[in-house]
Order: sequence, then C-alpha cells, then structure tokens
Amino acid sequence: KLPKDRGVRLLEIGAGTGGTTSFILPHLNPQQTEYVFTDLGSLFTSKAQEKFRDYPFVHYQQLNIEKDPTAQGFESHQYDVIVAANVLHATTSLRQTLENVRQLLAPGGILVLLEVTTRQRWVDLFAGLLEGWWRFEDFDLRPNHPLLESYQWQQLLKESNFPEVVVLPGVEENNQAVFPQSVIIAQASPTPSSLALSKPQGWLIFGDRQGVGENLATQMRTRGEICTLVKPGQEYQQVEPEEFTINPEKPEDFQKLISQVTHSGNLHGVIQCWSLETPKGDFTTEELTSASQIGCGSTLSLVQALVKTELSPSCHLWLITQGAQAVPENNPVVPGVAQSSLWGMGKTIASEHPELKCVRIDLDPQQTAKEQARMLMSEILSESREDEVAFRQENRYVARLVPSRHTQKTIDKPLTVRKDATYLIAGGLGGVGLLVARWLVEKGARHLVLIGRSGVKETTKSQLQELEQAGAQVMVAQADISNLESLTKVWSEIEQNMPPLKGVINSAAVVDDTLIESHNWPRFVKVMAPKVQGSWNLHLLTQNQSLDFFMLFSSMAYLLSTEGAANYAAANAFQHTFAYYRKSLELPAITINWGAILGIGLEPQLKASEKFQNQGRGIEPILPQKAVEALELLLGTNAIGVGVAPINWSQFIEKLPGEVSPPFFDDLIVSQPEKLVKAYQLLEKIKTASTTEKEILLVAHLQSEIAQVLRIKDSQIDIQQPLNTMGVDSLMALELRNRVQSQLEVNIKVSQFIEGVSISELAIKVNEQLRQIDSNQETKLENDGQLLSTDINNSDWIEGEL
Ligand SMILES: NC(=O)c1ccc[n+]([C@@H]2O[C@H](COP(=O)([O-])OP(=O)(O)OC[C@H]3O[C@@H](n4cnc5c(N)ncnc54)[C@H](OP(=O)(O)O)[C@@H]3O)[C@@H](O)[C@H]2O)c1
Repeated sequence: KLPKDRGVRLLEIGAGTGGTTSFILPHLNPQQTEYVFTDLGSLFTSKAQEKFRDYPFVHYQQLNIEKDPTAQGFESHQYDVIVAANVLHATTSLRQTLENVRQLLAPGGILVLLEVTTRQRWVDLFAGLLEGWWRFEDFDLRPNHPLLESYQWQQLLKESNFPEVVVLPGVEENNQAVFPQSVIIAQASPTPSSLALSKPQGWLIFGDRQGVGENLATQMRTRGEICTLVKPGQEYQQVEPEEFTINPEKPEDFQKLISQVTHSGNLHGVIQCWSLETPKGDFTTEELTSASQIGCGSTLSLVQALVKTELSPSCHLWLITQGAQAVPENNPVVPGVAQSSLWGMGKTIASEHPELKCVRIDLDPQQTAKEQARMLMSEILSESREDEVAFRQENRYVARLVPSRHTQKTIDKPLTVRKDATYLIAGGLGGVGLLVARWLVEKGARHLVLIGRSGVKETTKSQLQELEQAGAQVMVAQADISNLESLTKVWSEIEQNMPPLKGVINSAAVVDDTLIESHNWPRFVKVMAPKVQGSWNLHLLTQNQSLDFFMLFSSMAYLLSTEGAANYAAANAFQHTFAYYRKSLELPAITINWGAILGIGLEPQLKASEKFQNQGRGIEPILPQKAVEALELLLGTNAIGVGVAPINWSQFIEKLPGEVSPPFFDDLIVSQPEKLVKAYQLLEKIKTASTTEKEILLVAHLQSEIAQVLRIKDSQIDIQQPLNTMGVDSLMALELRNRVQSQLEVNIKVSQFIEGVSISELAIKVNEQLRQIDSNQETKLENDGQLLSTDINNSDWIEGEL
C-alpha cells in the first residue's frame, strides 16, 4: 500500500488494444495514481480513450520507445513503474530501447516486462507475419531471432543498469509451459542512467554561510564530481585549488572567476546558494535591502558573466532559496520571503537565456544543511523538466499557474467600505492609484491618503478635485515609501488628523526595462524600492493595526515571464510571495498581478516593443471598469496571489518560444506534442537535405519566423535586407534568437540579429553551425559505436501485439 501522501506514476509502452491495461487499471487507487497509456500511433491511443473513459487518472500519449523520449514531450526519470507487454523485442536495438526506458524511469523505478522467452516454431509462424518481429538489427545480441531467453534478458538488463532482476516463473517451470512467457521485473539503479554512465562533470557552487553549498560540494565530490566552491569575500582570491573568494559587489570578479573555471575544465552547472544568506522571519528594511543585493545582485553579475563567456555547450544554472515560496496546502509559512524576489528574476533569466536552463529550488527551512544538500543534489542530478521546485519534509512540490475559480458566488464576505475609516494608497497619484481612489469614493469612502514622491502634478489636480467634490477628504502625502522614516511621518499625520486606517493599497511602481546583458544593480534598486522595501515598510507600520484589507499591485509581467524586465519581475515576485507571508501571520493580504490596464498609468508608457510583443500573443488589455470589478470581487474572497488579464491561453502557449512550454503553464495546456513534432520534423528535414536545399529551407524558415516576430506576411520580407532596418529591436532579436535556438538547436548571439545581418546571411551562419554540430555528432557516434537514429516518418509502422 502506498503511504497517504505519496502518488505513483505508471507508464505503459506499446499498450496497443489495452489488453494488459484492462487487467492493471482496476487494481489502482484513482486518488494516488497517474497512468500514461502510450503507443506508437494515435489509432490505439484514441480507441483506448474510449475504452478506459471510466478511469480519469489515465492519460494518453504517443511514444516511440526507439527514440529519445524527451524529444517526444516526456520528462526524464518521472515514472515509478513502466510496463511493456510483448513489446520490447519488436525494436531495432534492445540496448538503445532499454536506455530510453531508463531515461523515463525514476531512479530505483521498476520495469515490468512480459516477453516470450522460449522459441516455439508455431509462435514464429503467426508472429512472423508482423512487421515488428523482423525489426531487430542488434545481431551481436540477437543473430537470427527476435526473442531472448530469460537468462539473456537478465544479463542484458544488468548490463543496462538494472542491477536487480527477477524472472517469473523460474526457468524450470517455464520450460514446461504451453505458451512460455515470462514476467521480468527489473529495478533501475538509484542514480539516473546518464549520470551513472557519464564522466565526472564540473560544478561551480556559490557557498552560503550556513553550509548548504559546502555540504553539496562534499556530497557531489563523493560521487566523483568536480566541484569548485566560491565564497563571498573582500577580494578575488584562489584560496585552494578548488576554492575561491570573490567580492559580491564587483561584477568583474564574477567574470574573472567564470573565465578561470572554464579555462581549467568543463563547467556543467552553476549552483547559486548565496541567496540563502538572508534573514528569516522578522527583519529590518536594511536587512531586506542587503538580502536583495546578495541574492539578485550577485545573480545578475553571475548571469552576465556566464552569457559573456559563451560556453558551448552552455552550462546550467540553479538558483537556491529556502522557505521563500508559499506551499499553501500544509506549509503556509514563508520565513524566507526576503529571498523571493530571486524567483521573479529567475523567470526572466529563463526566458531571456533558455540555454542556461535556469531552475529555481526552494529548500525546506526546517531541515539541516546536510539534509537540504541531499535533496538539492537529487534534484540537480534528476534532469527533471521542472524549473520551479520546492521541498517540504520529504515532499517535492512544483509550481503551476491554475485557473482561478473566483466568481460572485465564491465571495466569502463582501467588502464594506466605511465612511468613518481612512484608506491609504501608496502610489495613489499614479494611474491605477487614482482609478482605485475613484472606486473607493464611489463605494462610500470619505477619507483618503494618497502617497507619491513628487506630489500633485498639474495633470492630476482636476482628478483630486473630483474626489473632493464627491465628498472625500483627500490628504496628499509627499513621501518615499521605501524610506521608513519618511513613511513614519505620514503615519503620525494620519493618527493626528484622520479616522482609523482600515485599508492599505500599494500601487507604487517604477519601471526601467532592459535586457539582463545590459542591466546594472542601480537600475534594480530603483525598481525594487517601492515594491520590496515599500511593501515591507507598509507592513511594519500596520502589522499591529486591525485592517480590513492590505492589497499589493503587481504585474502579469512576472507571472508570464516577460523578457527585458528582470528588475520588475524581481520586485513583483516579492510582492506576490509577501501576500502569503502576511497571510501566514493571520494578517489580511492579497496581491493582484495585473495585465496592462487600457489607457491607465504605466500602460501608455509601456515601451512600444512590449505592447507590440503582446499583440498576436493572445494577451489583451483590461478595460479599467473590468479591473475595478475584478478587484472588488477578489477583495471579498480568500484569494491571496492572483493574476487578472484577458488571455487566450492556446494562442499564448502557441506563441511561446521553445517547442515545450515551461511546466508552470502545464495545467492550462491540453497537449503540446504537435508543436514538438513540427520542430523535430523541420530539423530532420534540414539535416537530410542537400547543401543547396538546406539553404533554401533555412531561408524560408527564417523568413517565416521573422515575419511572425514582426507580425507581417512572409512575402513582405526581403531576404537581402538587414534585419535592423526592418525594425527588429533588441527584444525582438531576443525572441528570434530563442525561437531559432529551440527549433534548430543552434546558438546565434542576440547581437548578430541586430548588427546589420540579412536573412540570407543568417541562413549561412545557421547552416554552418548545423554542419559543425553534425560532424561533432558523427565523431561522437563513431566513438561510442552507436547507431544514428532514423527519420521520424519511419515511425508510422504498427506494432504487433501478441
Ligand atoms: N497600468 C498598468 O497597465 C499596469 C499593468 C500591470 C501592473 N500595474 C501595476 O499597478 C501599479 C500601479 O501602476 P500605475 O500604472 O498606476 O503606475 P504609475 O502611473 O506610474 O503610478 C505609480 C506611482 O507610484 C509612485 N511611486 C513610485 N515610487 C514611489 C515611492 N518610492 N514612494 C511613493 N510613491 C512612489 C509614482 O509617483 P512618484 O514618482 O511621484 O513617486 C507614481 O505616481 C503598479 O504596481 C504596477 O506594477 C499596472
């Protein structure tokens, strides 16, 4: 029996008509099981959907086990049990097939095979009519017949990294059977196959004072990995052969370090644990400021150094925090809220630099550094597709954007706006601030405090007069909310001159967008101040007051990972998590992540390129009236962190760069294999074309990609015209680079798209890189003695099921 808090994932290969499936499903607990029914073609999977419609925990997906499962939309090492009934023998190479099975199995997972293990002439007679029977080409293993005997299976499985193998029934009993089939049960080794077999990798670990990084280095070294530890210090120094100190505030130290580490060996991954160096629970505004700098500031310098070094292949990046994410179900406490802005920045890193495969991991703050390092190592080595993971006790949680179910019917307690109370809006002289102020007055509010640094502007005077004419007392306070002293003065004024404070809204914001490569820390400080320090100060001054609401305005730019706004995403991520932090203290809190509100505040100032990006991506602006309606509705519910924007999800997902969307959007997507297969077919088509055809295909493909980014027709594009003269700016160049990189698996620098290159020149560059990759692969395959994979179109043969 499974423990209550555990689920189990099963996958069946070549499930065909569901003969085996129908015997397994009734024995599984629907609450704790995920069963993936797979077959080569859609014929069997669609029939099975009908046949097993009473089993909601079954999913259906196409899978060719002869090919890399990750290229077919499957995540590595995610299945606890894999079942294959009379399937595996019908593949070209059993070794390759078992390697692909290992790729799917979780470390320590179990493979259950049903195979005929004794040759019988009468079986050859009918099975020989099936195409799959004759596919075998691993003649060293199977010189003249597709079947293996049970002892051969045992041997092969052990060689293929399944150390534990049991065959049922035993050889003796099976010899006497009429139809000599065996059930073969094999347990995969506890380490993922690729890592168990690969040579030692180089890791750069930014070690924290509590010792998570150091413990991680020790545990990784025990496995034979090569780890270099970096600690914060005054100056750049190599303390030991595998230990450095660098000054976190000097970007040049990061550059020097990366150059030195990559010069002296391979660099597979960088693990940023400096972000753990921050206060937990109660802290001062100053501590929060230094937490942001050590977390986001050092990550900024690190990413810039990695990008500049142009590693090939690129190394991967893990950003580590602890207790910085709300895992609402049973662990709502967020003691590491000060580290949460790094999660927002991480989203932007992931979209601007997909080659770094940036993963954010939130450790359990209750565990010891040694335990945390153990969890971290298993996650890092798991090669999971998940990029936002949190650990609490022994449980692993992943982040998902889920549809909000709030409607008029789900309102717990409708909001009452009181005449005899004061409502404070930080950033209240801005667009959204004034929109909300008008709404509050309409609802009956009579005392408002609006805070801004620069006071009343000519353009806002009339709006303030309107509020006063409607009967409201409006106090305008000129203060910087990121400065506690300045804000405390406002509080004394309220206490002296206004009724008790009952509602607080933080609508203060500053934007200053640019790509990570050209960012600097002062630009982060400016944008984070009103949202990070500002929100914290508002909390410090109100935590002992009885408020009806405490509302923070954040942005969909954070939830949807907009490129070009790492600082804004970091600031908004803090606010998002901060609402959960306050809730854990039983204080009122909600964060609304707005999409662009039409004609209001920041929206008209948004860079043309940003607005342009949203066009055709399925994101529409919100009408101001709708924004206010949503706000009123949400204030009556128990929502904590929500996003509000009209989005056509299928269009949004379709337009995301990369053939597989971030797992964060998985719950909004029905299936994405079509996009994946298209990208795969394109690459195969290009690879197998002649030199001239290749260039024609590449030019046509690039032309269509650029047309999509520019939102014009392919025919409007001159392939000889430099891209920068067509209006391709840096954000578009980034989008293009990421599309081309994910579809064609080549790495072209963003700057090359804007340095006067034309489509035909770009096609030559891409072709050259593809040629280089091909020749590297050929050499590698020759060295490994492996076989080249065949065309995806060959996969439309139908597997025979005995
Ligand atoms: N408008 C939109 O379409 C949209 C979309 C998504 C999210 N949002 C979010 O909605 C909120 C409001 O945006 P908005 O469009 O109203 O922006 P806005 O018109 O620029 O207003 C922001 C206000 O914040 C004030 N402010 C900035 N830093 C401050 C500080 N340190 N202390 C006190 N006041 C400060 C600014 O005034 P001073 O410069 O005079 O201080 C400004 O009036 C923001 O949180 C934003 O992220 C808006």
